[in-house]
Formats: sequence, C-alpha cells, structure tokens
Amino acid sequence: MSAKVIMVASGKGGTGKSTLSVLVGGRLAAAGQRVLLVELDSGLRSVDIIAGVYGKTVYDIEDVLCGRCPGDKAVVESPVYPGLSVISAPYEGGQVPAKALSRLIQAMRPGFDFILLDTAAGMGAPFTAAVPLANLALLVLTPDPVALRDGRIVADAILQKNGPTPRLIVNRIPASGFANTGVRDLDECIDTVCVQLIGAVPDSPLIARAAVSGQALAPGSTAFQAVDNIAARILGGMPPLALR
Ligand SMILES: Nc1ncnc2c1ncn2[C@@H]1O[C@H](COP(=O)(O)OP(=O)(O)OP(=O)(O)O)[C@@H](O)[C@H]1O
Ligand SMILES: [Mg+2]
Repeated sequence: MSAKVIMVASGKGGTGKSTLSVLVGGRLAAAGQRVLLVELDSGLRSVDIIAGVYGKTVYDIEDVLCGRCPGDKAVVESPVYPGLSVISAPYEGGQVPAKALSRLIQAMRPGFDFILLDTAAGMGAPFTAAVPLANLALLVLTPDPVALRDGRIVADAILQKNGPTPRLIVNRIPASGFANTGVRDLDECIDTVCVQLIGAVPDSPLIARAAVSGQALAPGSTAFQAVDNIAARILGGMPPLALR
C-alpha cells in the first residue's frame, strides 16, 4: 500500500490550513488510518502546538530536506491525536526544494495511508513542490471575497500544472450566518472558486481553543462533526456537506 498524498492550500493566509490539517488528520487517524502530516510553512511553524508535539521535536523538515537527517528521525507522534505523526517546519528560514520533498514523500509513502502536506499561503515553493506529489488538494478558504478570489487563482494554478483534483473547505462560517461576510451563501463560495465542496466548518471557539491548547475537539459539537465529516468524505463516505 502507498499513502494517498493530500496537499492543503489557500491563496490568502490565515484561513485555517494548519488547524484543519491537524484536526482532519486526527480524525483520519481515529478512523484507523496511519497519517503523516508534513508542515511545509517554513518560518511560520504552528502545527507543533496544534498537534501537541511542541518541545518533542528534535529535527524539522528543513533538516530532512537538507539531508541532515533521514525522514523517520524527524517524525513525532502526536500525543493528542493517536495515529497522527508530524514532521514540523523550522522556526525560521528554510527552503522547500521540490526534488528533496519528492524523495522524502516517496520514502515515507509505504509506511502511511495518508500524507498531508500543509503548504504555506499562496503559490510559493511549498505549493510548487506539493502539486506534483498530491493526489488531492484541499483548498481551505474563509467566506470572504478576497479569500475566495485568491482561492480561485490557486485552484486554476493547480489545474494548469496538471495537479490533483481540488476540493473546497469553507472554514470559519460565522454562527450568525453569512450576513456580514461579503458573501451571500455557501453556493456563492462554490461558484466563485469553481471547485466542488468537501466540507463547511463553523467559526468555533472550540476550534480556536484546540489550535492553541493542544487539546482534541470534544465529540458531540457541531465543529467536531464538521471536521469528522471531511475525514469521512476523504475516506469515500457521503456524510452531509454542511451542518446547521
Ligand atoms: N473554524 C475555526 N474557528 C475558529 N478559529 C479558527 C478556525 N479555523 C482556524 N481558526 C483560527 O484561525 C487562525 C489561523 O489558523 P491557521 O494558523 O490554521 O491558518 P493557516 O491557513 O494555516 O495560516 P497561514 O497561512 O499563516 O499558514 C488561528 O488562530 C486558528 O485558531
Ligand atoms: Mg499554516
């Protein structure tokens, strides 16, 4: 078996790529999948805190891609999400050479069911290196005109490079609805980006807390269900796309 590679991308920054990479990866792992999350956002490390591996990492992705250590030495198991392994980005600097990343992913593929590549915002080196490796691209966008327009540009770039099928996650939908977002509804998000929806996630204090505390989302909440449904869809299920 060889891992399915999923890249997580956006045009605009801060849309929730790293948060959802960890949370969706955690749910895939809870479903019995062996999951590796590689953080490619060099210099803006955050996955270590969200996944609870802060202080446990010795080597990072830059060490691996520069040849300072083999890939498996940089892998740390999340104590928060059993079955989710993480390779963190460096605290600062760092390059993402496409050939070195490709070698790493080929070496790691047999040991995992899913490899998530958390890319940086926009279409820089992490994005360019991830596109030819990925079997699926998750576009994590917030419901605002700028994020959606930039998301469309990223989706087009993926297709132009003969990359993977992009699927849309609309993240941080306000509890009060779309009234103050500058976007009419979920349909307008889909129409603007021209990409099929795979999930709609509420703006939730539970998710915000999970992202800073290294604590898993409690089952039973709408936020948990939205994330779990994305993992279920990745696994081929057909749970509801949007929750009320
Ligand atoms: N559904 C949500 N509800 C509430 N807060 C959220 C949600 N998703 C993400 N956030 C918060 O949004 C902020 C940005 O999230 P995150 O760092 O995951 O974004 P990113 O796309 O990875 O950013 P970057 O482009 O800098 O890599 C964080 O403070 C996170 O806690
Ligand atoms: Mg990030």
